[in-house]
Amino acid sequence: MPASALHEKVENHPQVHLLEQTQQLKALLTIIRDKNTARGDFIFYSDRIIRLLVEEGLNHLPVVETDVETPTGSSFHGVDFLGKICGVSIMRAGESMEQGLRDCCRSVRIGKILIQRDEETAEAKLYYAKLPSDIASRYVLLLDPMLATGGSAIRAIQVLLDHGVQEDRILFLNLLCAPEGVEAVVSRFPQLQIITGDIDAGLDEHKFITPGLGDFGCRYFGTD
Ligand code: URA
Repeated sequence: MPASALHEKVENHPQVHLLEQTQQLKALLTIIRDKNTARGDFIFYSDRIIRLLVEEGLNHLPVVETDVETPTGSSFHGVDFLGKICGVSIMRAGESMEQGLRDCCRSVRIGKILIQRDEETAEAKLYYAKLPSDIASRYVLLLDPMLATGGSAIRAIQVLLDHGVQEDRILFLNLLCAPEGVEAVVSRFPQLQIITGDIDAGLDEHKFITPGLGDFGCRYFGTD
């Protein structure tokens, strides 16, 4: 399938929720894509996009109707979140998104999964997973800033399912994604939802997202 057709397909996929492409979001994404952006600005503006992703993710959680009494003695008919949530970051880059989640959800539990590509088999190999013991009863916000090939995401999602998480209770948050990665994830897990900041053109020969922003983890954490 030509890249443009794949792009259109994933953009229109009901599981994929692209953040509203406001001028503000476009400006934030432009700053973090710029190779000349200094690290402090990269962190600051990435954090702002992460906050938008978390807020949008929370919009996709179910609610129940509830009544409260206001200080004026009136009754107000509103909603309350249904069910508990937790975060799970895919190390290392996903750890950059943990604070944004904590800023919105006080005392939120956050698990971690470390997956690395086995150089011999090219398979995404699980090295470490530490998850809340009751994760099976929670909605999970899975955190990874870049969805490129989908290899580590698919492995991480499988770990969640193996721990009893329901597929339709997983919200996968990322700043940028490649159509190839989205297609790989949604075709394998048709009930999970993806919340993303932008869908790029594709992947280059090194499997980096293009135009992309380079190596997110290195730019955020200041390593080479
Ligand atoms: N991870 C990154 O940090 N950047 C990419 O482009 C792809 C994966």
